[in-house]
Amino acid sequence: MKIISSKHDINQLAKQSKASGKSIGFVPTMGFLHEGHLALVKEARQENDCVIMSIFVNPIQFGPSEDYDMYPRDAERDKKLAKEAGVDILFMPSVDEMYKKKQSVKMMVTERTNRLCGAKRPMHFDGVVMVLTKLFHLTIPDRAYFGLKDAQQFAIVSALVDDFDFSVEIVPVNTVREPSGLAISSRNVYLTAEERQKAPALYHSLLLGKKRIAEGETDVTVITDAVNDYLHQHLTAKIDYVELLSFPELETISVASGNMILAAAIQFSAARLIDNIIMES
Ligand code: PAF
Repeated sequence: MKIISSKHDINQLAKQSKASGKSIGFVPTMGFLHEGHLALVKEARQENDCVIMSIFVNPIQFGPSEDYDMYPRDAERDKKLAKEAGVDILFMPSVDEMYKKKQSVKMMVTERTNRLCGAKRPMHFDGVVMVLTKLFHLTIPDRAYFGLKDAQQFAIVSALVDDFDFSVEIVPVNTVREPSGLAISSRNVYLTAEERQKAPALYHSLLLGKKRIAEGETDVTVITDAVNDYLHQHLTAKIDYVELLSFPELETISVASGNMILAAAIQFSAARLIDNIIMES
Protein backbone atom coordinates (compact mmCIF):
# COMPACT_ATOMS: atom_id res chain seq x y z
CA MET A 1 0.00 0.00 0.00
CA LYS A 2 1.32 3.41 -0.98
CA ILE A 3 0.78 6.28 1.43
CA ILE A 4 0.56 9.67 -0.23
CA SER A 5 0.19 13.11 1.28
CA SER A 6 0.52 15.43 -1.71
CA LYS A 7 -2.29 16.35 -4.08
CA HIS A 8 0.11 16.30 -7.02
CA ASP A 9 1.31 12.76 -6.24
CA ILE A 10 -2.14 11.25 -5.72
CA ASN A 11 -3.34 12.76 -8.96
CA GLN A 12 -0.29 11.42 -10.85
CA LEU A 13 -0.84 7.92 -9.44
CA ALA A 14 -4.54 8.01 -10.29
CA LYS A 15 -3.76 9.15 -13.84
CA GLN A 16 -1.19 6.35 -14.21
CA SER A 17 -3.75 3.77 -13.07
CA LYS A 18 -6.28 5.11 -15.53
CA ALA A 19 -3.69 5.17 -18.36
CA SER A 20 -2.92 1.50 -17.74
CA GLY A 21 -6.61 0.67 -18.08
CA LYS A 22 -7.30 0.13 -14.37
CA SER A 23 -10.63 1.14 -12.86
CA ILE A 24 -10.47 3.14 -9.63
CA GLY A 25 -12.73 2.66 -6.61
CA PHE A 26 -12.56 5.50 -4.09
CA VAL A 27 -13.44 5.36 -0.39
CA PRO A 28 -13.41 8.83 1.20
CA THR A 29 -13.18 8.78 5.00
CA MET A 30 -12.24 10.91 7.96
CA GLY A 31 -10.30 8.02 9.47
CA PHE A 32 -10.61 6.27 12.83
CA LEU A 33 -11.59 3.33 10.66
CA HIS A 34 -14.17 0.81 11.75
CA GLU A 35 -16.08 -2.07 10.20
CA GLY A 36 -18.37 0.35 8.35
CA HIS A 37 -15.40 1.79 6.43
CA LEU A 38 -13.97 -1.67 5.86
CA ALA A 39 -17.27 -2.77 4.29
CA LEU A 40 -16.86 0.10 1.81
CA VAL A 41 -13.33 -1.06 0.99
CA LYS A 42 -14.52 -4.64 0.58
CA GLU A 43 -17.09 -3.61 -1.99
CA ALA A 44 -14.63 -1.27 -3.75
CA ARG A 45 -12.08 -4.11 -3.83
CA GLN A 46 -14.57 -6.44 -5.52
CA GLU A 47 -15.57 -3.95 -8.20
CA ASN A 48 -12.34 -2.14 -9.11
CA ASP A 49 -8.72 -2.80 -10.07
CA CYS A 50 -7.31 -0.08 -7.83
CA VAL A 51 -8.72 1.07 -4.48
CA ILE A 52 -7.88 4.54 -3.18
CA MET A 53 -8.90 5.56 0.33
CA SER A 54 -8.60 9.09 1.66
CA ILE A 55 -8.28 9.92 5.34
CA PHE A 56 -8.85 13.60 5.94
CA VAL A 57 -10.73 15.22 8.81
CA ASN A 58 -12.22 18.03 6.78
CA PRO A 59 -12.36 21.21 8.91
CA ILE A 60 -14.80 23.04 6.65
CA GLN A 61 -17.60 20.57 7.33
CA PHE A 62 -17.52 21.21 11.09
CA GLY A 63 -19.41 24.12 12.62
CA PRO A 64 -17.68 26.38 15.19
CA SER A 65 -19.30 24.54 18.12
CA GLU A 66 -18.73 21.05 16.71
CA ASP A 67 -16.16 18.39 17.51
CA TYR A 68 -13.40 19.05 14.90
CA ASP A 69 -10.57 19.14 17.47
CA MET A 70 -12.11 16.29 19.43
CA TYR A 71 -12.79 14.12 16.37
CA PRO A 72 -11.12 10.75 17.08
CA ARG A 73 -7.89 10.18 15.16
CA ASP A 74 -5.46 7.23 15.07
CA ALA A 75 -3.29 7.40 11.94
CA GLU A 76 -1.10 4.38 12.71
CA ARG A 77 -4.02 2.07 13.40
CA ASP A 78 -5.81 3.39 10.29
CA LYS A 79 -2.80 2.64 8.07
CA LYS A 80 -2.68 -0.93 9.35
CA LEU A 81 -6.41 -1.51 8.89
CA ALA A 82 -6.44 0.05 5.41
CA LYS A 83 -3.54 -2.16 4.31
CA GLU A 84 -5.15 -5.32 5.70
CA ALA A 85 -8.43 -4.45 3.98
CA GLY A 86 -6.70 -4.27 0.60
CA VAL A 87 -6.39 -0.52 -0.04
CA ASP A 88 -3.80 0.13 -2.77
CA ILE A 89 -3.28 3.84 -2.19
CA LEU A 90 -3.95 5.73 1.03
CA PHE A 91 -4.22 9.49 0.62
CA MET A 92 -3.61 11.35 3.89
CA PRO A 93 -3.18 15.05 3.13
CA SER A 94 -2.72 17.77 5.75
CA VAL A 95 -5.19 20.62 6.07
CA ASP A 96 -2.61 22.98 4.51
CA GLU A 97 -2.17 20.66 1.57
CA MET A 98 -5.88 20.46 0.89
CA TYR A 99 -6.64 24.13 1.49
CA LYS A 100 -3.38 25.85 0.55
CA LYS A 101 -4.91 29.08 -0.54
CA LYS A 102 -7.92 31.04 0.59
CA GLN A 103 -10.76 29.74 -1.57
CA SER A 104 -12.29 32.22 -4.01
CA VAL A 105 -15.13 29.94 -5.05
CA LYS A 106 -17.39 28.09 -2.66
CA MET A 107 -20.20 25.61 -3.15
CA MET A 108 -23.62 25.73 -1.55
CA VAL A 109 -26.07 22.84 -1.23
CA THR A 110 -29.60 24.15 -1.75
CA GLU A 111 -31.76 20.99 -1.78
CA ARG A 112 -31.92 17.90 0.47
CA THR A 113 -30.00 19.85 3.11
CA ASN A 114 -32.39 21.60 5.47
CA ARG A 115 -33.90 18.41 6.89
CA LEU A 116 -32.45 15.76 9.21
CA CYS A 117 -28.86 16.54 10.27
CA GLY A 118 -28.50 19.35 7.74
CA ALA A 119 -31.17 21.37 9.59
CA LYS A 120 -29.01 21.48 12.72
CA ARG A 121 -25.67 21.74 10.92
CA PRO A 122 -25.84 24.73 8.58
CA MET A 123 -23.05 24.64 5.99
CA HIS A 124 -22.00 21.11 6.95
CA PHE A 125 -22.94 19.70 3.56
CA ASP A 126 -21.38 22.70 1.76
CA GLY A 127 -18.09 21.59 3.31
CA VAL A 128 -18.74 17.95 2.37
CA VAL A 129 -19.43 18.69 -1.31
CA MET A 130 -16.44 21.06 -1.49
CA VAL A 131 -13.97 18.51 -0.19
CA LEU A 132 -15.48 15.69 -2.27
CA THR A 133 -15.27 17.80 -5.42
CA LYS A 134 -11.55 18.24 -4.75
CA LEU A 135 -11.07 14.57 -3.85
CA PHE A 136 -12.97 13.36 -6.94
CA HIS A 137 -10.80 15.57 -9.16
CA LEU A 138 -7.62 14.32 -7.52
CA THR A 139 -8.48 10.61 -7.48
CA ILE A 140 -10.56 10.44 -10.73
CA PRO A 141 -12.56 7.44 -9.51
CA ASP A 142 -14.91 5.29 -11.59
CA ARG A 143 -16.88 4.52 -8.44
CA ALA A 144 -17.02 6.12 -5.00
CA TYR A 145 -18.45 4.30 -1.97
CA PHE A 146 -20.68 5.82 0.70
CA GLY A 147 -22.31 4.18 3.72
CA LEU A 148 -26.06 4.49 4.04
CA LYS A 149 -25.80 5.32 7.71
CA ASP A 150 -25.18 8.84 6.45
CA ALA A 151 -28.09 8.57 4.03
CA GLN A 152 -28.46 12.35 3.74
CA GLN A 153 -24.81 12.57 2.71
CA PHE A 154 -25.40 9.83 0.11
CA ALA A 155 -28.46 11.72 -1.22
CA ILE A 156 -26.55 15.02 -1.44
CA VAL A 157 -23.45 13.48 -3.03
CA SER A 158 -25.70 11.77 -5.59
CA ALA A 159 -27.18 15.19 -6.40
CA LEU A 160 -23.69 16.72 -6.59
CA VAL A 161 -22.46 14.28 -9.24
CA ASP A 162 -25.75 14.57 -11.12
CA ASP A 163 -25.89 18.39 -11.07
CA PHE A 164 -22.22 18.84 -11.94
CA ASP A 165 -21.87 15.93 -14.40
CA PHE A 166 -19.10 14.12 -12.57
CA SER A 167 -18.35 10.83 -14.28
CA VAL A 168 -18.25 8.84 -11.06
CA GLU A 169 -20.81 6.30 -9.93
CA ILE A 170 -21.89 6.82 -6.32
CA VAL A 171 -22.30 3.37 -4.76
CA PRO A 172 -24.42 3.03 -1.58
CA VAL A 173 -23.28 0.44 0.98
CA ASN A 174 -25.56 -0.87 3.72
CA THR A 175 -25.00 0.17 7.32
CA VAL A 176 -22.86 -2.24 9.34
CA ARG A 177 -24.37 -3.03 12.74
CA GLU A 178 -23.27 -4.64 15.95
CA PRO A 179 -25.24 -7.81 16.87
CA SER A 180 -27.39 -5.55 19.12
CA GLY A 181 -28.47 -3.54 16.08
CA LEU A 182 -26.38 -0.48 17.00
CA ALA A 183 -24.97 1.08 13.83
CA ILE A 184 -21.18 1.16 13.88
CA SER A 185 -19.87 4.74 14.03
CA SER A 186 -16.66 6.54 14.94
CA ARG A 187 -18.67 8.51 17.48
CA ASN A 188 -19.69 5.36 19.43
CA VAL A 189 -16.40 5.77 21.36
CA TYR A 190 -17.96 8.73 23.17
CA LEU A 191 -20.75 6.57 24.67
CA THR A 192 -20.54 5.69 28.35
CA ALA A 193 -20.91 1.99 29.21
CA GLU A 194 -24.52 2.57 30.26
CA GLU A 195 -25.37 4.57 27.13
CA ARG A 196 -23.84 1.91 24.90
CA GLN A 197 -26.20 -0.64 26.44
CA LYS A 198 -29.20 1.54 25.72
CA ALA A 199 -28.14 2.89 22.32
CA PRO A 200 -29.50 -0.07 20.24
CA ALA A 201 -32.98 1.28 21.09
CA LEU A 202 -32.38 3.85 18.34
CA TYR A 203 -32.41 1.17 15.64
CA HIS A 204 -35.21 -0.75 17.34
CA SER A 205 -37.40 2.37 17.31
CA LEU A 206 -36.91 2.63 13.54
CA LEU A 207 -37.72 -1.06 13.09
CA LEU A 208 -40.94 -0.42 14.99
CA GLY A 209 -41.80 2.41 12.57
CA LYS A 210 -41.05 0.17 9.62
CA LYS A 211 -43.28 -2.52 11.11
CA ARG A 212 -46.17 -0.05 11.46
CA ILE A 213 -45.80 0.83 7.77
CA ALA A 214 -45.66 -2.85 6.78
CA GLU A 215 -48.87 -3.37 8.79
CA GLY A 216 -50.58 -0.72 6.66
CA GLU A 217 -50.17 2.53 8.62
CA THR A 218 -49.75 5.41 6.16
CA ASP A 219 -50.13 8.48 8.41
CA VAL A 220 -46.63 9.89 8.77
CA THR A 221 -47.41 11.59 12.09
CA VAL A 222 -48.74 8.37 13.61
CA ILE A 223 -45.59 6.54 12.49
CA THR A 224 -43.12 9.16 13.75
CA ASP A 225 -45.07 9.47 17.03
CA ALA A 226 -44.72 5.72 17.55
CA VAL A 227 -40.96 5.98 17.01
CA ASN A 228 -40.71 8.97 19.36
CA ASP A 229 -42.73 7.15 22.05
CA TYR A 230 -40.48 4.11 21.80
CA LEU A 231 -37.38 6.29 22.17
CA HIS A 232 -38.82 8.13 25.18
CA GLN A 233 -39.67 4.81 26.84
CA HIS A 234 -36.25 3.25 26.27
CA LEU A 235 -33.79 6.15 26.44
CA THR A 236 -33.10 9.28 28.43
CA ALA A 237 -31.03 10.74 25.56
CA LYS A 238 -32.38 13.93 23.96
CA ILE A 239 -34.22 13.22 20.72
CA ASP A 240 -33.00 15.59 17.99
CA TYR A 241 -35.39 14.45 15.31
CA VAL A 242 -37.52 11.60 14.02
CA GLU A 243 -38.52 12.10 10.40
CA LEU A 244 -40.13 10.10 7.61
CA LEU A 245 -39.29 11.67 4.24
CA SER A 246 -39.18 10.80 0.55
CA PHE A 247 -35.84 9.31 -0.51
CA PRO A 248 -33.51 10.43 -1.99
CA GLU A 249 -35.25 13.82 -2.41
CA LEU A 250 -35.70 14.20 1.37
CA GLU A 251 -38.98 16.04 0.97
CA THR A 252 -41.69 16.04 3.63
CA ILE A 253 -44.60 13.68 3.00
CA SER A 254 -47.86 13.21 4.87
CA VAL A 255 -48.68 9.77 3.48
CA ALA A 256 -46.15 6.96 3.74
CA SER A 257 -45.68 5.59 0.24
CA GLY A 258 -42.97 5.20 -2.41
CA ASN A 259 -39.27 5.34 -1.56
CA MET A 260 -38.83 6.69 1.94
CA ILE A 261 -36.34 7.16 4.71
CA LEU A 262 -37.25 6.86 8.38
CA ALA A 263 -34.44 8.57 10.26
CA ALA A 264 -33.68 9.62 13.82
CA ALA A 265 -30.92 11.37 15.73
CA ILE A 266 -30.38 11.32 19.48
CA GLN A 267 -27.96 13.16 21.72
CA PHE A 268 -26.32 11.28 24.57
CA SER A 269 -24.01 13.03 27.07
CA ALA A 270 -21.12 13.29 24.58
CA ALA A 271 -22.22 11.31 21.53
CA ARG A 272 -24.78 12.28 18.93
CA LEU A 273 -26.03 9.15 17.16
CA ILE A 274 -27.94 8.95 13.89
CA ASP A 275 -29.58 6.01 12.19
CA ASN A 276 -32.10 5.34 9.46
CA ILE A 277 -33.98 2.73 7.50
CA ILE A 278 -34.58 3.24 3.77
CA MET A 279 -37.64 1.43 2.48
CA GLU A 280 -40.29 1.24 -0.21
CA SER A 281 -44.02 0.91 0.36
O1 PAF B 1 -18.48 10.69 5.70
C1 PAF B 1 -17.38 11.20 5.92
O2 PAF B 1 -16.53 10.64 6.59
C2 PAF B 1 -17.07 12.58 5.36
O3 PAF B 1 -18.22 13.39 5.36
C3 PAF B 1 -16.45 12.53 3.95
C4 PAF B 1 -17.38 11.90 2.95
C5 PAF B 1 -15.15 11.73 4.01
C6 PAF B 1 -16.13 13.95 3.49
O4 PAF B 1 -15.25 14.59 4.35
